[in-house]
Amino acid sequence: MRIELAGVEKEYRSGGQALAVLQGVNLVIEEQSVTSIVGPSGSGKTTLLGIMAGLDRPTRGTVRIGDTELTALTEDGRAGFRAAHVGFVFQTFHLLPSLTALENVQVPLELSPEGGKLAAREIRERARALLDRVGLAERTHHYPAQLSGGEQQRVALARAFVTRPRVLFADEPTGNLDRETGSRIVALLEELNQDARTTLVLVTHDLALADRTDRILHIDGGRLREEALR
Ligand SMILES: Nc1ncnc2c1ncn2[C@@H]1O[C@H](COP(=O)(O)OP(=O)(O)OP(=O)(O)O)[C@@H](O)[C@H]1O
Ligand SMILES: [Mg+2]
Repeated sequence: MRIELAGVEKEYRSGGQALAVLQGVNLVIEEQSVTSIVGPSGSGKTTLLGIMAGLDRPTRGTVRIGDTELTALTEDGRAGFRAAHVGFVFQTFHLLPSLTALENVQVPLELSPEGGKLAAREIRERARALLDRVGLAERTHHYPAQLSGGEQQRVALARAFVTRPRVLFADEPTGNLDRETGSRIVALLEELNQDARTTLVLVTHDLALADRTDRILHIDGGRLREEALR
């Protein structure tokens, strides 16, 4: 789905002080495109991604995904929208430690509107097929603590795609991995994304990775700047 931000501002308040992190962000991300966001630490990349994904609300401005205005929804409304349409991959994997790899992948599907109509066996089969796809068929019953960092991130990729989301956000998905493991994760992300035809937005410090995406947005001083055409 297409993503559109208009006049988005974000201020954080702490100790009576206001910190303006995003200032007047206007942006259209086309359906099925791959966009990377780069910028210095503390420039607001995670904040922007969270606002686009409906995890957080802007102080001012509107966010639309497809035909839905996220900023007009309640928190529950946004949670429902995310469960149905949005995938997310985090820098620190965020797997549930008490669940196996297979169970971690099943969770978002179980919680999605589509999953409500599927039999437990169908959910398990879809999760298993994705774990197979990311090369972890032999690790389905491992717990996160029994998996390497790269393996945990592969489980997180399987989990992000299991609901077949129309938009997917990844916040430094290779940030906690060595270079080689990181580039394998990116190749896998690209492969899964091509099949699923998702709209993908990713934050990265890795310029070689950013260079492989359709579009590069720089964020600095609360504003976005587009990389000149390459
Ligand atoms: N919940 C919060 N309350 C107050 N300030 C916050 C909050 N979250 C983030 N900030 C501040 O907003 C700014 C942007 O944070 P953000 O996490 O979006 O940066 P980032 O670009 O993702 O940085 P990094 O590359 O280090 O992950 C930072 O200065 C941070 O201190
Ligand atoms: Mg961040």
